[in-house]
Amino acid sequence: MIDIFSNFYKGKRVLVTGHTGFKGSWLSIWLHELGAEVVGVGLEPYSEKDNFVLSGIGKKIKADIRADIRDGQKMKEIFAQYKPEIVFHLAAQPLVRLSYEIPVDTYQTNVMGTINIMESIRSTDSVKVGVMITTDKCYDNKEQLRGYKEDDPFGGYDPYSSSKGACEIAIQSWRRSFFNPENYGKAHHVSLASVRAGNVIGGGDWAKDRIIPDCIRALESGKPIEIRSPKAVRPWEHVLEPLSGYLLLAQKMWNHPTDFCEGWNFGPEQESVLNVWEIATSMIENFGYGELKDVSNPNALHEANLLMLDITKAKTRLGWKPRLNAKQCAVLTSDWYKRYRKEDVYGICIDEIKMFLQ
Ligand SMILES: NC(=O)c1ccc[n+]([C@@H]2O[C@H](COP(=O)([O-])OP(=O)(O)OC[C@H]3O[C@@H](n4cnc5c(N)ncnc54)[C@H](O)[C@@H]3O)[C@@H](O)[C@H]2O)c1
Repeated sequence: MIDIFSNFYKGKRVLVTGHTGFKGSWLSIWLHELGAEVVGVGLEPYSEKDNFVLSGIGKKIKADIRADIRDGQKMKEIFAQYKPEIVFHLAAQPLVRLSYEIPVDTYQTNVMGTINIMESIRSTDSVKVGVMITTDKCYDNKEQLRGYKEDDPFGGYDPYSSSKGACEIAIQSWRRSFFNPENYGKAHHVSLASVRAGNVIGGGDWAKDRIIPDCIRALESGKPIEIRSPKAVRPWEHVLEPLSGYLLLAQKMWNHPTDFCEGWNFGPEQESVLNVWEIATSMIENFGYGELKDVSNPNALHEANLLMLDITKAKTRLGWKPRLNAKQCAVLTSDWYKRYRKEDVYGICIDEIKMFLQ
């Protein structure tokens, strides 16, 4: 496989929180292929059909640990034992609708969990780079027609979005207070950044109330795909897009610790900003069958209608840019779901990373 990071990850000790989840499993696979020593920390996978389970990545990495990020002491012990050099923090309760049902858990996991990881970084001398994953929903969403920039105010209507806005404020505070670039090399040796992706799609995600898993469940059971918010516009991107950004950013932070420790958007190009109906339609086109059913309800829980990210900063300062348009993202995503029952899933992921890199 092409190594676009020039052997940087080979032999590096990398801790990934949330490695049993959708994005974390893909990140762990990619890091493993790049030769990193990956330690994963997460809860049990949600289902037997998750990418983490089917790919078998848990058996390939250096350590596959089940632990709760709300347990700060446990996190410090794991960090002390494995001495990571780079940390990607993805573990979270990431669902908007579920956050209305379990707002307190959502805040405990997302905000206190993130603080526990930052405190573990602080207590472990080996860590040089921390990439904290938040979301496009961390911004105060004004349903505006331009994409959010990194210095736009944080906010969030629902508990999930606001918890991620709160994470951003905590990350900013920890950076100023404990990992300040001005004190780098004197008081600490850590470069800390936060990263915000769009609506991530890809194989092996079975989360509740997310459009791609909803499409696949309906297609597999021969039912129409129920669309709750047909006109809601989102920045769709394949999972490998933001992951390529996180990996590139961590490499830059390692090489230039005080130049990149800030917030970064990793969203798609403007033309990939489609509404839910359009992205579901492209899944039907790729599968060659299926139908959509509009089940929108004016009394439904609040979810944002319009959300876009401005990615100028990542393009100009990191030299990162999305490789795929929305149609190609849908093709790659469909590929995984068409193949997962018949083929080796680790092999599918490797094929897709190769396709992505070409
Ligand atoms: N999927 C998206 O569209 C998207 C978009 C933007 C940002 N994000 C962010 O990316 C990250 C990963 O999202 P995902 O889609 O892979 O989610 P996911 O639900 O598939 O995975 C979440 C992971 O976090 C772990 N986790 C949850 N609570 C935990 C706890 N208390 N202790 C330890 N581990 C815990 C789970 O075990 C799992 O490994 C999250 O931070 C999410 O907010 C996701």
